[in-house]
Parts: sequence; C-alpha cells; structure tokens
Amino acid sequence: MELTAAAGEARELEARGLAKAYRRRRGEVHVFSGLDFALARGEAVAIVGPSGAGKSTLLNLLGGLDWPTHGQVLHRGLPLPKRGDALAAWRCRSLGFVFQFHFLLPDFTAIENILLPARMAGRLDAAARERARGLLEALGLLPRADHLPGELSGGEQQRVAVARAFINRPAVVLADEPFGNLDRNKGEELSGLLFDLRRRDGTALVIVTHDRSLAAKADRVLLLSEGQLGPAPAEKGAL
Ligand SMILES: Nc1ncnc2c1ncn2[C@@H]1O[C@H](COP(=O)(O)OP(=O)(O)O)[C@@H](O)[C@H]1O
Ligand SMILES: [Mg+2]
Repeated sequence: MELTAAAGEARELEARGLAKAYRRRRGEVHVFSGLDFALARGEAVAIVGPSGAGKSTLLNLLGGLDWPTHGQVLHRGLPLPKRGDALAAWRCRSLGFVFQFHFLLPDFTAIENILLPARMAGRLDAAARERARGLLEALGLLPRADHLPGELSGGEQQRVAVARAFINRPAVVLADEPFGNLDRNKGEELSGLLFDLRRRDGTALVIVTHDRSLAAKADRVLLLSEGQLGPAPAEKGAL
C-alpha cells in the first residue's frame, strides 16, 4: 500500500522492500531481500544480530553510503537524493555517523575534527565553535581539545567521533558498533554519554551493537538474522 506523504513525513527514515546483493567476480552475495524498516522522529532503535547478517550493509544503505539492489530509502517521506553532490549535502546536513573505527583525520586536532562536518556544511561560525566546545565538555574532553588523534586514547578518539557526529544537529545518528573496540566499562560509559546527547538534542538513533546493556537503552531492539529484520527476543543467548 502506498503511504500518503503525511504519514511518510512522520518517519525520520524508512526503508521499503530493501534488497542488497554484492556482485563479485564469481557469483553474488545476497545479504537480504524485501526488508522493511521505519524509524520515527527522535526514536532510538538498536539492531543486533550475528556477524555477517548484514547490519553494516543496512546502516550503509540507510545513510546513503551504498545503494540497494532493489527498494528505496526515504527520509521524511522523500527518496534520498540520487545525485552524488545532493546526496553528500543531505548526509552532511541530516546525518551523523559513528563507526567502529574513529576515522579521525590525523593532522587535525580534536576540535578541528569535530568541526569538519560544520565546515563541509558551510557553517563554520562562532556558534559552531561554541557548540563544539559544549560537546567536548559534555564528553569530558575539553582539556584534550587541541590534541591530535594520535595523542588521544582509544576511548577519547571515539568520544571525538561521537561529538563530530552531533556537531550539525543531525536528525539521525547512525552508529555501527561504535564502542566495540573498547573494554566493557569504557563502552558503557561512552554509550551513556551518547544516549545523553541524543536525548538532549532529540536526535533519532540507529545503533548496531553486540552489547546487551547498550541495546537495552534503545526504544526498540530489532534482530537482523537470515535476511529478516524483526523484534529481538527479550531473552536469548549472546546477541
Ligand atoms: N563489499 C562486499 N562485497 C561482497 N560481499 C560483502 C561486501 N560487504 C559485505 N559483504 C558480505 O555481506 C554480508 C553482510 O556483511 P555485513 O553487512 O558487513 O554484516 P554485519 O555487519 O552484520 O557483520 C557478509 O556475508 C559479508 O561477507
Ligand atoms: Mg558490521
């Protein structure tokens, strides 16, 4: 059934009939087909599932970093821009990403890295600098503002990556096992900070995680397994 524009707009992000196959020289890898997903405004959804289930693939499709073989991703009822420059502008304005690896630029300080999306959006002004300092403060990193990534611990690098994801006040943050490389205590501390930030700004969040306690902080937990996305059983072995 076709959704009306009004119904679609209530959804921050939506995937309809999403299919992805990776073409390789010898054959194809079919990750999933006919996947549907909807994220309400300001909602936090955790996606769990076994390694290789397609969680990163799904996040990349939702963020317009990769294209589906079939189906569509919509933002507030409208399909993602098709032109590369329009898509990049949309991503920069509307989305924040946190990956398992921080992807900070090594020759830029912590605060300069945080301000990169603001610079790309043409919004590198006093307000953005103020906001960057506020994010550093919220993440307990103000004393490290002028450190290069190589002068930060793993946890601190990942905090900078979180601040960078939030700098443009995106409608959605997509996080792919953001604290998977950190020890459990650090991971819990940082996930607490991430959820504080999204609550403060009303940011919608899709987070892929293996960590049960992190998943439990979300409004909904979905399991991606054998090409299907559905509610995660409350009590089941390791995620
Ligand atoms: N670029 C690619 N080319 C071919 N196969 C890929 C590619 N990226 C991922 N895959 C395969 O697609 C499946 C899903 O991968 P991925 O989305 O990374 O899973 P997850 O994040 O859940 O561990 C895996 O079987 C993986 O080997
Ligand atoms: Mg993955």
